[in-house]
Amino acid sequence: MPDRPLPPLTDDGAAPRVYAGLPSDTVRVIQVTDPHLYADPSGALLGVPTQASLDAVLDLVRAEALPADAVIATGDLVHDGSTAGYARLRARLGELGCPAYALPGNHDDPAALRAAAHEPPVLSCRDVRLGRWQLVFLDSTVPGQDGGRLSDTELAALDGALDAGAEHALVCLHHPPLPIGSDWLDGMALANADALFAVMDRRPAVRGVVFGHIHQPFEAERNGVRLLGSPSTCVQFAAVRPRFGIDPAPAGYRWLGLLPDGGIATGVRRLPLPTGTVQLDARGY
Ligand SMILES: [Fe+2]
Repeated sequence: MPDRPLPPLTDDGAAPRVYAGLPSDTVRVIQVTDPHLYADPSGALLGVPTQASLDAVLDLVRAEALPADAVIATGDLVHDGSTAGYARLRARLGELGCPAYALPGNHDDPAALRAAAHEPPVLSCRDVRLGRWQLVFLDSTVPGQDGGRLSDTELAALDGALDAGAEHALVCLHHPPLPIGSDWLDGMALANADALFAVMDRRPAVRGVVFGHIHQPFEAERNGVRLLGSPSTCVQFAAVRPRFGIDPAPAGYRWLGLLPDGGIATGVRRLPLPTGTVQLDARGY
């Protein structure tokens, strides 16, 4: 199913609701990714104040996507690995009124993340069952490296988690399991995607894979499985570039409607304006 456009504004001018018109037993999942928070709440990445940008995106989520069944935060949550950054992330996600599940990216300190996401409503855990669906969370980080790899432990845990008997499953991780057409990002994608796909090929319950890392929307399909990348809640990377490049597009989030028949309705929503003044000539970060 292609990205589903939002219905137009209602007659009274109220914000559109992303889940309008979907079956009542749709599992509603919001993905926020790559917020790159700092210990200093005014910290900025390439000119974008990351906490203010995350806060604005979460306000947009409140306006058009809540209530939801879960929020997933797919890595690069805190750029400097600080305890203060994780504490603020926990506080902000905890205010949304639904469980939030966080996994690490290459910029995170996985131990600090686990310490901050140790109890509801913000958790770092292996999986969760939501109706007919199961969400499975994988750690694709490799200490000291920007690129990702799934360890044998993670791959075995995915295989085992899929034994839980859910009809449909969504796999969540930080690194993309396929090239997206930008050489510099493709050089730090998931190195052993074949191993992930080998598990998925044995497990037809897997209906989708959702990831962060690329700071841009992306969609592909492999053997009927949706592969979905998403904009960052702060800086956006330009699509299809051999070298690092910035896209001035505003920050955003992805909504997913996990349908009872295994289909996935999904779309990306963005703020009306960029947060801060992004450094368009940046050569890296
Ligand atoms: Fe990132």
